[in-house]
Amino acid sequence: MTVLAIDQGTSGTKALVVDPADGVLAVAEVPVTPEYLPGGGVEQDPGQLLDSVLEAGRRAAAEAGRPLRAVALANQGETVLAWDRATGTPLSPAVVWQDSRSQPLCDERAHARDWVAARTGLVLDPYFSAPKMTWLRENVTREGVVTTTDTWLVHRLTGEFVTDAATAGRSLLLDLDKVDWDPELADLFALDPAGFPRIVACDEVVGTTTAFGAELPVAGLVVDQQAALFGEGCLTAGTAKCTYGTGAFLLAHTGSTAVRSAAGLSSSVAWQARGATGYCVDGQVYTAASAVRWLTDLGLIGSAAELDAVAASDAGGVVCVPSFAGLAAPWWRSEATATFAGLTLASRREHLVLAVLQGVAAQIAEVVSLAAADLGSPLTRLRVDGGLTRSRTLMQAQADLAQVPVDVYPSPHATALGAAGLARLALEPSLRVEDAVPAWTPGRTYEPVWSRDRASEFLTRWRAAAASALESVR
Ligand code: G3P
Repeated sequence: MTVLAIDQGTSGTKALVVDPADGVLAVAEVPVTPEYLPGGGVEQDPGQLLDSVLEAGRRAAAEAGRPLRAVALANQGETVLAWDRATGTPLSPAVVWQDSRSQPLCDERAHARDWVAARTGLVLDPYFSAPKMTWLRENVTREGVVTTTDTWLVHRLTGEFVTDAATAGRSLLLDLDKVDWDPELADLFALDPAGFPRIVACDEVVGTTTAFGAELPVAGLVVDQQAALFGEGCLTAGTAKCTYGTGAFLLAHTGSTAVRSAAGLSSSVAWQARGATGYCVDGQVYTAASAVRWLTDLGLIGSAAELDAVAASDAGGVVCVPSFAGLAAPWWRSEATATFAGLTLASRREHLVLAVLQGVAAQIAEVVSLAAADLGSPLTRLRVDGGLTRSRTLMQAQADLAQVPVDVYPSPHATALGAAGLARLALEPSLRVEDAVPAWTPGRTYEPVWSRDRASEFLTRWRAAAASALESVR
């Protein structure tokens, strides 16, 4: 079954035409440009998002040149906008998941932190959808509906008003155990539940579209990170993946249990498929490729392709906490800034470059051990995907600091392949979940070379740098 799978991400939209027998038949990518504003604002032009979906989808469909059976869509998860339900016209910019301007709204609701965490599995933080929705209501418009971008894009494609269970699970408005909107949470965020979309399963056909040629069912709606978890075959408790994109996102499957993290991670729906709900815990570095782009903007490297050539083999005592856009799990400090510790007059650009890569890897290593604490057993391997997996230096640092073998997914398209697999489940009733995505062997595996003691000594220094960075923004 040939599927057009669209991955609408923070930095671009990728469309893939994929067939289980013939593999990836066509790929088209269209960049999108978030605008970084003073005061922590990060916005996107909704028109640019929609145009990128249409352009990438049409280009891939034309290149594949064969009949398609379905359209799947992965989305950014927590990016929101206001729009007019009658006309589909945007009434606001898209407020991106990285946007921290709703921190004061979270502070005002700090008394509700514990019950919100118990009900939703999430931390009361601007990263998630609801605070940004309230911010839009208070600062931009009270007209129309406010939803995540998937609901708007699907409405433009099909006329339907839906979101999938995984995306709803990133909102702070979902009862995680019931997988349904919670009126008390809507009340807490002063949002009208009458304006919330219908929640659908990830393996559900939600409508049809003619946007890419012939009329096609739209199915396989899911958050991009969860799509990659699915694409990489992390289907059972204890399997985990990290995607190194704009940010780095580690998700560990927790089976049919909605864990309430004791470690400060967030817990959400991995996907709903075949009538069952799978759950995951996650932790994130908000800036991974964004931190590398910062190195490029500063002229320390020409492009990400130079990372391995420039990075020193030893950071010369320099330690970086790469929180250029705040610190997420388990600190949850949106106002945190990035830090370099241990700089001397002998520090050179190659030390800084390695320190940034080690900083990303250290933060993910922290999340790996916290996920293991929530799961009650150590993670035995880590599956990885995303553009930065091309950096051998980063991947070796990840294996060394997390002290687990790191298996690199052999395709750059894990997210789109995962969404395509969910669309196949929607259209092929006899297909089993475990057969919906192709089996794979790692393109490369990185084994830990550092001893456990060396890794733990590094992480102790790194944690001290993170603590003093947090102290400085108190
Ligand atoms: O939570 C945000 C994340 O899902 C965005 O992923 O690939 O668009 O950077 P990406």
